[in-house]
Amino acid sequence: MSRTFYVTTPIYYVNDVPHIGHAYTTLAADVLARYKRLKGYEVFFLTGTDEHGQKVEKAANAAGETPLELADRVVKRFQALWDKLDVAPTDFIRTTQERHKKGVTHIFRQILAQGDIYLGEYEDWYCTPCETFWTETQLIDGNCPDCNRPVEKLKEESYFFRMSKYQDRLLAHIEANPDFIQPKSRRNEIIAFVKEGLRDLSISRTSFNWGIPVPDNERHVIYVWFDALTNYITALGYPEQGGDFTRYWPVDVHLIGKDILRFHAVYWPTFLMAAGLPLPKKVFAHGWWTVEGQKMSKSLQNVVEPNMLVDKYGIDAVRYFLLREVPFGLDGDFSHTALVHRINSDLANDLGNLLNRSTAMVNKYFDGVLPQPGPLAELDAAFRGKTETMVAQLDACLDELAFSKGLQAIWEVISAGNKYIDETAPWTLAKDPAQRERLGTIMYTLLEVQRIVHILLTAFMPRTAAKALGYLGWSAPPRGEDLRWGGLVAGTHIAKAEALFPRIEEKDE
Ligand code: MSP
Repeated sequence: MSRTFYVTTPIYYVNDVPHIGHAYTTLAADVLARYKRLKGYEVFFLTGTDEHGQKVEKAANAAGETPLELADRVVKRFQALWDKLDVAPTDFIRTTQERHKKGVTHIFRQILAQGDIYLGEYEDWYCTPCETFWTETQLIDGNCPDCNRPVEKLKEESYFFRMSKYQDRLLAHIEANPDFIQPKSRRNEIIAFVKEGLRDLSISRTSFNWGIPVPDNERHVIYVWFDALTNYITALGYPEQGGDFTRYWPVDVHLIGKDILRFHAVYWPTFLMAAGLPLPKKVFAHGWWTVEGQKMSKSLQNVVEPNMLVDKYGIDAVRYFLLREVPFGLDGDFSHTALVHRINSDLANDLGNLLNRSTAMVNKYFDGVLPQPGPLAELDAAFRGKTETMVAQLDACLDELAFSKGLQAIWEVISAGNKYIDETAPWTLAKDPAQRERLGTIMYTLLEVQRIVHILLTAFMPRTAAKALGYLGWSAPPRGEDLRWGGLVAGTHIAKAEALFPRIEEKDE
C-alpha cells in the first residue's frame, strides 16, 4: 500500500490581498509537499479561500460589490501568486463552492441530530475584524484583546455547540499526543486555555446573511469558523467515503499562524469528536513576520507584497529566504538588507560558487567529461559521510517542520564542499600526470555531493535545483532512491555552470 501525506494551509480571507504572511505558510506547505512526493508519498496539498462572514460582507459593501464578486476578484490574486511562486497545490477550495456547502450542511446536521448542537440565546462582545466573541473579562480596556479594536455588544438567538462537553477528552488527547500541537510553547498555551474551562460555542448568526444557511432554519447562517474549518474535509469529498476522504483523513499536518491556533487546536478537534471523526495528527503554528522591526499593517503602509519581491529578487531567492531566515515557529523580521545578504552569501557565494568552481574544473581538466572515481581517500570518504548524514538530517528536520535547521544542514555540506576544494587543491594535482586518478576522484566526489544536494533542494528551490542538475547531466525527475551515493555515471557530460544567483550590490538597497 502506498504511503500518503496530507498537508493544509489556512484558507485565506478574501477581504485582503495576499502578503508575505500568506505566502509564508503556503510556501512551507509546498516545500513539504514536494519533499514528501520526492520521498515517494502520495501527497494531497490543500489551500484555498475563506469567503463567508461579516468581514467579507462588509468589505464587499465598502467596495460596492456583492461578496461573491469581491471573492471572485480576490481569489484570482491568490491563485496567480501561487503560480508565480511555483506553489502547486493539489486542490484549491473556496468556501462558496457547492461541494463545500454540502459538506458543511452535512456535518452541522449530524452534530445537531446527535444532540451536541442546540438553540439558545447569545449576548456578548463581538470583534468583527477577528470574527470572535469575547466575554466582558477578556476585553482589554474595553477593546478586543487580540487586535485592540473596538468591540460591539451583540444579543441574538443562536445555535450553540456543546464544546464544554469535550473539555476533558480534548485535554486527555493533547496530553497523550505530545506531537498533536506544536511547537511546545504553543501546546502549553492551549493546555492552559482548555484547563480554564471550555464554554459552549455560538455557531450561528442572525445579524447578517453572507454565509451557509443553518439547515432547516434559514434565518441563521453558520458561524464563519465552523464553516471555514470544515474545508479541510470537504475538499476531500466529505461526507463521501471511499475516495480522497478515506484515503487522506486524518490530515498529517495543518500549517497555520499562531493567531489562529485556538480555532485549530480547540474548536476544530471538538467539532470532529462530536462528528465521530478522527483528529488531525498535527497542528503546527508558525510565528509572525514583522517588517523592518515593525508590525506589518495597512495603516503603516509597510505590507510586503510577494509579487514585488519575486520581481525584484526572483522566485527561488524568496522561497529560500522565507524558510531559512527564521526558525519555523518563531517570530521573525523581514528586511531587504537581510534578504540581499542571504542571496549574496548563501546563494551566490556558497551554493553558486561551489557549482561554478567544480563544473569549471571538470571542463578544464577533463574536457567536461565526468571521470571514473578511484578509491576514496580519507577526505573524500569524510565528505561523502557528511553528505549521507545530511540526507538523514533533512528528513528528521522536515518531520519536525524545522525548515531552517534542515537548510542549515544542507549548507554545512555546501561549505564543506568549498573547503574540500581548498584542501585538495585540484589545481596542484592537475600539474602532475601521476595524480590523474586522484584528481578524477575529487571531481567525481564534488559533483556527486552536489547532485544529492540539488535533489534535496528541488523541494525548496525547484527551478534552481533543476538548472543545477542540468549542468550535472542529470535530467530525470528526481526520486528518493536518487539520494543514494553513486548516482552520477562516469562519462556524463558536465556543462560549465553560469552563476545560479548573480550578486546584488548591497548599497542598492
Ligand atoms: N480565514 C482565516 C483562516 C481560516 S482556516 C480554516 C484567516 N485568514 S487570514 O487570511 O486572515 O490569515 C491567514 C494566515 O495568515 C494566518 O495563518 C495568519 O497567521 C497569517 N498571517 C497574517 N499575518 C502574518 C504575518 N505578519 N506573519 C506571518 N503570518 C501571518 O485567518
